[in-house]
Amino acid sequence: MVQADPPTKHEVRRRFLARCMGIISSLGLMSFLYPLIRFIEPPPEVKGVSKVEIDLAELPSGSAKVVTYRGRPALVVNGPDGFVAFMATCSHLGCAVKWVRNNQEFVCPCHGGRFDMKGQVTGGPPQVPLIPVGVSVIGDKVVVGA
Ligand code: FES
Repeated sequence: MVQADPPTKHEVRRRFLARCMGIISSLGLMSFLYPLIRFIEPPPEVKGVSKVEIDLAELPSGSAKVVTYRGRPALVVNGPDGFVAFMATCSHLGCAVKWVRNNQEFVCPCHGGRFDMKGQVTGGPPQVPLIPVGVSVIGDKVVVGA
């Protein structure tokens, strides 16, 4: 039986450097592929659900509900003039707006942006209204995105 000679210092060093180069090459390849895959993948608003149904009983008069519409939060409100829905993203810097039932308005907690029932700016730094979303009542369901 013939035993192999133990590796020399140069061989050990060469193997170590080859492994390091393999790891670095793999990381480099992944750093190239990850953004490419993210670019090719459809954005959340395309992937997300484009129609959301809510039971009418879940939205009594004056109440609001947050739903995920096209991958992003939307607010549905049962207001005095019927149902309205808006994307819940503030048009200023993108914080989540909240429905304030007592004042019948949407308020952004970040910088005090305020919007009326039609999504129009009534106060604070936002310059652009909220993005409206279609909403209708079909049978005993409130349908967002209809
Ligand atoms: Fe809403 Fe600034 S992000 S007011």
